[in-house]
Amino acid sequence: MDSFIGWLGGKKLLRDKILGEFPQEEVKKYVEVFGGAAWVLFRKICPGSKCLEVYNDINSDLVNLFRCVKCHCSEVQKELSFMLNSREQFADYRAQMAGGGLTDIQRAARFFFLIKESFGSKYKYFASSGGKNVVDIIPYLTEVQQRLKRVVIEHKDFTDIIRLYDSSTTLFYCDPPYYGAEREYNVSFTIHDHMLLRDSLKDLTGRFILSYNDNSTIRQMYEGYNITTISRSNNLSKGVRKNAYQEIIIKNF
Ligand SMILES: C[S@@+](CC[C@H](N)C(=O)[O-])C[C@H]1O[C@@H](n2cnc3c(N)ncnc32)[C@H](O)[C@@H]1O
Repeated sequence: MDSFIGWLGGKKLLRDKILGEFPQEEVKKYVEVFGGAAWVLFRKICPGSKCLEVYNDINSDLVNLFRCVKCHCSEVQKELSFMLNSREQFADYRAQMAGGGLTDIQRAARFFFLIKESFGSKYKYFASSGGKNVVDIIPYLTEVQQRLKRVVIEHKDFTDIIRLYDSSTTLFYCDPPYYGAEREYNVSFTIHDHMLLRDSLKDLTGRFILSYNDNSTIRQMYEGYNITTISRSNNLSKGVRKNAYQEIIIKNF
């Protein structure tokens, strides 16, 4: 199935290639360390009780949205059903999110609205696509709730989540902010964090799959690991011909 939101750096176009890199061996814990919109997790077949699945992200509005869809889906749907597809409401919701004083359910519904009705899903500038809007997607949230039923939703820094869930049968999928594009996210991620991630993955007992934009610094940092180059069209590029964009997949198996 598809994720229910777009997200900066979301792996909608690469999810099948990433799933093709999964190990043959049994995985008992699957952890999306930098969850975002979780395009890979939603595409992955639900393993039922055979494997523990974990979604994690440091963005508290995003984690609150996932938690509310999982645990209070019908309340979120009800809240969304009153929403207009309007520029004024977009501005009001941005102000309310910044001001606080909302319940978790109100916050989740507003955040979902802002993602859906914004340019590049960056929840900053109003840009109604003219395609499906919030009201059309409300019923799909029930399917999302079902898929998330057994997924553990965490809100931790990547170093903690890796340490907490590491074991010989764990598979971590890591999709950090792209090297050089860290400022695009509303959370702080620094050059030092890229190094911390490399160090956290170095002594792992379990397996990892890591995706990055292709660049020489990251290649040097992960020298000796299994590195594959993949390309996709750059869906944010303007013009008739979309540019090809190189990404790399790094694995320790
Ligand atoms: C490239 S996006 C992940 C996209 C995701 N794979 C998808 O398909 O939508 C990177 C994510 O890392 C999260 N992030 C940034 N710093 C983090 C940290 N220190 N710990 C955990 N998550 C972090 C961001 O909030 C963002 O959602």
